[in-house]
Amino acid sequence: MQKTISKIPKSVKKVISIPGDKSVSHRSIIFGAIAKGLTEVSNFLTGEDCICTMKAFQALGVSIKESNDKVLIEGQGFSALKPPNHEIYLGNSGTGMRLLAGLFAGLSFKTILTGDRSLSGRPMNRVIQPLTLMGACINSQDGGKAPLVINPQNQAPNLHGINYRSPIASAQVKSSILLAGLNADGITTVSEPEKSRDHTERMLKYFGADLQINGLSVSLNGPNSRNNLIGQKINVPSDISSAAFFLVAGAILEDAELKLSQVGINPTRTGILDALGLMNVKFNLENIDETGAEPIADILISSSDIKGAVIDGDLIPRLIDEIPILAILASQASGTTTISNAEELRVKESDRVHTTINLLKALGIEVQEKPDGMIIQGQNKKPFNPCKTAWQDLSEHSYYISDDKIVFDSHGDHRLAMSAAIAGLYSIKPIEILQVEFVNTSFPSFFEILQSID
Ligand code: S3P
Repeated sequence: MQKTISKIPKSVKKVISIPGDKSVSHRSIIFGAIAKGLTEVSNFLTGEDCICTMKAFQALGVSIKESNDKVLIEGQGFSALKPPNHEIYLGNSGTGMRLLAGLFAGLSFKTILTGDRSLSGRPMNRVIQPLTLMGACINSQDGGKAPLVINPQNQAPNLHGINYRSPIASAQVKSSILLAGLNADGITTVSEPEKSRDHTERMLKYFGADLQINGLSVSLNGPNSRNNLIGQKINVPSDISSAAFFLVAGAILEDAELKLSQVGINPTRTGILDALGLMNVKFNLENIDETGAEPIADILISSSDIKGAVIDGDLIPRLIDEIPILAILASQASGTTTISNAEELRVKESDRVHTTINLLKALGIEVQEKPDGMIIQGQNKKPFNPCKTAWQDLSEHSYYISDDKIVFDSHGDHRLAMSAAIAGLYSIKPIEILQVEFVNTSFPSFFEILQSID
């Protein structure tokens, strides 16, 4: 499926309601399903990734229903999960596959986790290795790729706690080990080089687990936790990673004032706000509050004179999913923006160093690739108007530019498709974006909201 974005709006003043956070939505299903009692989730993200997680637990016998805009999960504890009669398909979702690999490692029966083409190419050894150290048995394809066969012998493993030093700051790795730790003997400790998002830790505590956090390390007492998880009410905050697209639109468009309401501002996720600050973007937080285990606020943003900045170090895990749209912001800055230490981008839904650079080139921006990021020359608030390319097809490149349009293939990466669409709001030539259907994995109402500010 393709979509063309073709108009520069003159003046944009709007309040925007962003859908629920993807990471929190996945976890609300997982913890609701293994807790005892009713978990009631409001503002659940009905994107395809989270629906796959929901279907996974339905396949394991958990009653999960949608009623009056709420998701109701009738958990009966981990030990009540039943063998599914089919493979568990997790679509595009790395979070779904890595978190469920950890949890399902403790089951007494076999499960098979599969995914789409992108997910089947992503590295799973980062979880298989530590889970194996805990006593799990997981078979994979091609040296650590999905499908993953968990407990191929169809019997319960003896999981034991480990003290694992993760080589990467990854919430998916940390969460996978902690979820396995729930069913392990003793204490499971994970430490990471920089702090990654901590929704799992917050939700474990919220549901009643015995968990200690000490700087960059987290310890979970499995035996004290596994039978003590009790169903809760969860109001999922709006997703700051989805909000980021409209934060950047607000900053780059002329005469814009946008208010994004009740967005999650968990400090492990607000690297994008720190980056906006470094880049001189005008924004304000209002109505700061808490919902369940997560802080929220309204974010107000307006047209800004953007400055280039250096984005690196421990800021990277706190804005990892926002780098493609941050690159669009950087392209409209005065001066250079350097993004470093972001090699993790290479193994996301696409190689996002490569696909983001292709998008910038399609927009006529000067950009230099680095193994761990990129250097972007900003064009200082000038609508995109790239020159025609020598080629007029997509067989060799992911984009081309003709006299009357830019064509960009998002390669099935939702965040690239949405970044291209936001750039389209500030482009003289219309942008035709290919494979936009993947936007449904994380932000099904994206184009509806985009149209409303058009
Ligand atoms: C996620 C963690 C991040 C992020 C992904 C969601 C999560 O991945 O990129 O979109 O919900 O735990 P890593 O932790 O592997 O970097």
